[in-house]
Amino acid sequence: MSAPVADANEVEVARVSELADGQIKAVDIDGLKLAVVRWDGEFFAVRDRCPHEASSLCFGVVGRSLTGDGSGVADLDGDRVVLICPWHRWEYDLRTGAGVRMTSVTVKTYPVEVRDDRVFVVLRPARAARSAGGAA
Ligand code: FES
Repeated sequence: MSAPVADANEVEVARVSELADGQIKAVDIDGLKLAVVRWDGEFFAVRDRCPHEASSLCFGVVGRSLTGDGSGVADLDGDRVVLICPWHRWEYDLRTGAGVRMTSVTVKTYPVEVRDDRVFVVLRPARAARSAGGAA
């Protein structure tokens, strides 16, 4: 299923009211698989493929990152929001895509725009044009 295209570089991927906080939606834009996430009123989009062993991140968990000193006491890691892979539980910062503990890996992120009740992912023009059925 292709998502509708709003303008040259944006693809509508969800309605705001469609996702509850912490919910992840799988989106396929002509083969580009994304995980669209809502957390604390914000929306994020990342490629739906864990860089570790290619698990779908759509089956992961969203939350605040925890940090600790090994003493058994954990604390929140600022306001970092992470998507935790369901397979081996690697965490990715949803704002940057950076691996939290495995810092050498990154999941690709996409800018998200929200207007009224509509959520759009901003793509490079060629990808958006292909999604619209037009020429790149
Ligand atoms: S496949 Fe995601 S952490 Fe291993």
